[in-house]
Amino acid sequence: MTELLEPRAIGRDTVRRDGEAKVRGTATYAIETPVEHPAYAHPVQATVARGRITAIDTSAAEALDGVLVVLTHENAERLASTDDREFAVLQGDEVAFRGQLVGVVVAETSELARQAADAVRVTYAEQPHDSELRVDHPDLYAPEQVNAGHPTDTAEGDVAAAVATAAVTVEETYSTAMYFNNPLEPHATTALWDPATDVPLTLWDSTQGVHPARAAVCEVFGLEEERVRVVCPFVGGGFGSKGTPHANLMLVTMAARALPGRPVKLALTRQQMFALSAYRTPTIQKIQLAADRTGRLQALALDVVEQTSRIKEFAEQTAAPARMMYASPNRRTTHRLAALDVPVPSWMRAPGECPGMFGPEVAMDELAERLGVDPVELRIRNEPEVDPETGKPWSSRNLVHCLREGAERFGWAERPPAGHREGAWLVGTGVASSVYPTMRQAKSTATIRFEDGRYVAEIGAADLGTGAWTVLPQITADALDVDLDDVEVRIGDTRYPVASVAGGSSGTNTWGSALVVAATEFRSKFGGSPADGDEVSGDVDQASKDEDHSAYAFGAQFAEVRVNVATGELRVPRLYGVFGAGRIVNPRTARSQLIGGMTMGLSMALHENGVWDPRIGQAATHDLAEYHVTVNADVGDIQAHWLDEHDPYVNAMGSKGIGEIGITGTAAAVVNAVHRATGVRVRDLPVTLDKVLAALP
Ligand code: MOS
Repeated sequence: MTELLEPRAIGRDTVRRDGEAKVRGTATYAIETPVEHPAYAHPVQATVARGRITAIDTSAAEALDGVLVVLTHENAERLASTDDREFAVLQGDEVAFRGQLVGVVVAETSELARQAADAVRVTYAEQPHDSELRVDHPDLYAPEQVNAGHPTDTAEGDVAAAVATAAVTVEETYSTAMYFNNPLEPHATTALWDPATDVPLTLWDSTQGVHPARAAVCEVFGLEEERVRVVCPFVGGGFGSKGTPHANLMLVTMAARALPGRPVKLALTRQQMFALSAYRTPTIQKIQLAADRTGRLQALALDVVEQTSRIKEFAEQTAAPARMMYASPNRRTTHRLAALDVPVPSWMRAPGECPGMFGPEVAMDELAERLGVDPVELRIRNEPEVDPETGKPWSSRNLVHCLREGAERFGWAERPPAGHREGAWLVGTGVASSVYPTMRQAKSTATIRFEDGRYVAEIGAADLGTGAWTVLPQITADALDVDLDDVEVRIGDTRYPVASVAGGSSGTNTWGSALVVAATEFRSKFGGSPADGDEVSGDVDQASKDEDHSAYAFGAQFAEVRVNVATGELRVPRLYGVFGAGRIVNPRTARSQLIGGMTMGLSMALHENGVWDPRIGQAATHDLAEYHVTVNADVGDIQAHWLDEHDPYVNAMGSKGIGEIGITGTAAAVVNAVHRATGVRVRDLPVTLDKVLAALP
């Protein structure tokens, strides 16, 4: 057990500390970094999905007045490490996916760089490629493990036997689309290589972690960490796509090293992002559920097929939530991957849990329907007493409470019957559960110093719009037992102590724990009246860590869908979520995270659809005109509520992390509501009007 901080600043609806700078436009993002006499880089991308470069002619590009340098595999520096093949830019003639970086032009203006990049002539010996995921792909393989260190497969009991004898079963296949991260701010960097100085490389980069980005660059270029600085005060969204660096960071670093003393700027275009800045693998989910007449699950199986790239393995842990959500004596989960000639898949909000809460939560709705049991009640009947996978007790699990409170707020008991019609609209309601693991990373240190009458904390944390600038001072103030206004927390620079990535909803849990350790040490060392310059540091590893409980945040989401009987147009006028996510450090930033996640889930349900063209190995939908994301006009009455949850096992703040849980289960709730409205069970996302049109009256 951990003694929870006495909440004074924690829990208060505190205004974002970075809000004014953002609203006034004075917050500088990576590409805006004021540097003297910048040059601009523009990538050259492969136009074949697989093959070799046989010739590359840069003469026309180099002849343009104002072009400073053109780099290709023929003249680029040799990297110290090419172990990570995503990062091994311009190291050879091999093309592993369409859109791969094969060159870069640096010029006096961004327009000129782009024009010159277009003038680079690349000739390829094209090879046959395979970029299409199929459930029966001949080369499916089992990875050694899936992401977050989860086992690839799990099994308990005998699913087949339970399915054969069960009163009611659901055996269906569900699929999720390819989703492309589209933060407002593209992946962007200002890079300066100045070999005459002690810290020759500075990267102002849009990243979810300055220290992890530095570590990757140092590995690739063979530089010592002391000689590289990464700075990132503000991020215009990441969702995981900036959680690990991508090839663009290596390319701009290489470009800067070719022009010593000259700052080089590179911002990916929106279209370039679709090949270079992280997408979520499509998933195919074969599900088996078996239950007795009362709805108690007797078997639960999820077999997942997904893709990775040929150059780098990324194994989305899609079956992870199915392992722990509901009680069932017989269980099986598997993951199989096809390594294709495609861009490298990567992190996107709630990797694993997001796609993995689609198929199973729709299947639960199908089971409820076949049983004639209310879908809220079905979930409650299958509540596990302990974590089914590990046998550990829960640190806290309030799924049932979330379901009940959500049902109450939503008016679930009074919901209209299936196929209810109001004028030109069919109305349906649906429910699904949400879940996200409570994580904490290693490797985070904070210092606290008394300076000019204030407490200044420093930690290399990142705020990708989530609220770290604001909640970290709240935590520090309470841990120091001082006024919030007397605390300043500085983040976003490798000059500050090492910090973990803003990923896995672990930022507040991790950096907050380090700050609490430092604050506790500060108080014991200097008491309540410190002198100027008094300083301590604290490491997250010194914070108590519970290994005896299974820790997750839970939630329940309720959707109302309206389907136009004439056009099939789908609207979601109401989307309510109730979450049990530990103590909420700041209700303002938390609400923003939760409704942001829910909106992204709505986007997944109705709009986002990476349409892949397997003939050329490219997303046909590769800009925001074709790849639709939910916007304000698509969101109706969206509400995020939370329980006053007290969890003494997770950390000193009692926080569980809220950045990702909001997207989990949302798409299932919407799909379940569409079924209630129209009778059409959509198992392949997104729900577009063509899928319901034929069934309309
Ligand atoms: Mo998030 S996908 O864990 O950065």
